[in-house]
Amino acid sequence: METNILPVDAVKLGKISVEKAHEALVGEWHIEYAEGNDLESMRRAARELATTDVPVAFPTETVYGLGADATRSTAVRAIFAAKGRPADNPLIVHVCSISQLRSLLAAKEPAREGIDPIPDIYKPLIKKFWPGPLTLILPNPRGSVLAPEVTAGLDTFGARMPRSILALALIKLAGVPLAAPSANASTRPSPTAAEHVKDDLEGRIHTIIDGGPCEVGVESTVVDGLSHPPAILRPGGITVEQLRQCPGWEDVVIGYKDSPELGLRPKAPGMKYRHYSPKATVVLYEAGTEIPDPEKLLERSEAHASIGFIRTKRWPIALGLPLVQQLSKAQGHTNGVSHPSQLPGFSMHENDQEGDSKISNLLRSVIQHQVPHAKRLQVKDIPMKVYDVHLGGETSGVARGLFSALRELDKKGVDIIYVEGVDDKTGDDIAAAVMNRLRKAAEIRV
Ligand code: TXA
Ligand code: MG
Repeated sequence: METNILPVDAVKLGKISVEKAHEALVGEWHIEYAEGNDLESMRRAARELATTDVPVAFPTETVYGLGADATRSTAVRAIFAAKGRPADNPLIVHVCSISQLRSLLAAKEPAREGIDPIPDIYKPLIKKFWPGPLTLILPNPRGSVLAPEVTAGLDTFGARMPRSILALALIKLAGVPLAAPSANASTRPSPTAAEHVKDDLEGRIHTIIDGGPCEVGVESTVVDGLSHPPAILRPGGITVEQLRQCPGWEDVVIGYKDSPELGLRPKAPGMKYRHYSPKATVVLYEAGTEIPDPEKLLERSEAHASIGFIRTKRWPIALGLPLVQQLSKAQGHTNGVSHPSQLPGFSMHENDQEGDSKISNLLRSVIQHQVPHAKRLQVKDIPMKVYDVHLGGETSGVARGLFSALRELDKKGVDIIYVEGVDDKTGDDIAAAVMNRLRKAAEIRV
């Protein structure tokens, strides 16, 4: 099966207008389409969703999703097959309107007059954070229109209204709610660019809608307001502090563990699996730990031909390993779509003793430098390569560039990645989401 990337420019899709919310939870949005290639690509993807069982990858503001008609079992099963996802891990249902959500809660009968099927506890959250990176756990009614595979046998389902206009428009054009996990192969880092999806799912799907890099970079926050007190099942784009400001959510508890003890069954089934893993070994330094001594690291990694650093706030470039030559290639992305490496806060440096390694044309700057032939390091005969990615000091930038950095270093074939963590104690930025993903990806934590 050939896999096509279809670039779509949201601006060229048409004129968007949003009604005032008034009493409604979210204002209805409309789009006056402009005929052209962009709309044609979207229609093609929507047709594929409606008429075939092959899932379609599409951008959201968090990460790319792999979507299928949530009401058809055969289509939903194909998502699990394409990703290699365990069947007991339920999917998030993406809706484009509140009325679409209500239709899922009211099952096959029309909603009873005067009774809103949306639980009251969620209304302040919907008003404040939808459309956006927040997934709500809702009761799945008897006789639900959702395919049973979506919920993996649970009596609840997760739903969110994404704020990416491409995601919203695709759901609307398809005319059905879309079940969509992240569009990576199971266990790999989530995709934040169309190329990442292609790297993982080439030959398994036909269509990837390319809307450029994702704005948030980590997945949605998953909350359960049906339990008391309400709980965060997965940290994500909406922070615990933001949630606490909503009525009914002042005492929200953390319902996830970054390193679940054996035998403990997490409430979000997906949180128990190995996740977000590049091929390289990831060594995570928690924020506040000492800046590692580069010589000690080299001693430890002497068997490795190649190492990478992902830096955030304090670590110096390549931990101070000397630079000898700066290639400084300012390079753009192919096909006119910007790549996360071009976003502010993402830069990658490369040390390559041989100078002939494939330099990715995605990288904004590439710096060549050399590991000193220090005798006691016993690495003098090994062509050690050192790569360095700086994600910047802003947590939002770290979130945006993190998965991409792990994937870029994987492409360089590094054996080990040293990561400088961020402080997740304050709860007022998405550091908790970043560290949650890193702790799951890491084999060694310092
Ligand atoms: O930002 C996102 O949420 C992205 C984009 C594509 O929307 N989607 C995403 O889906 O991250 P996925 O499948 O990779 O993660 C869904 C998470 C899993 O941890 C899953 O176990 C949990 O949501 N989940 C889904 N339905 C659930 C339910 N009924 N009860 C508890 N957890 C649920
Ligand atoms: Mg996922």
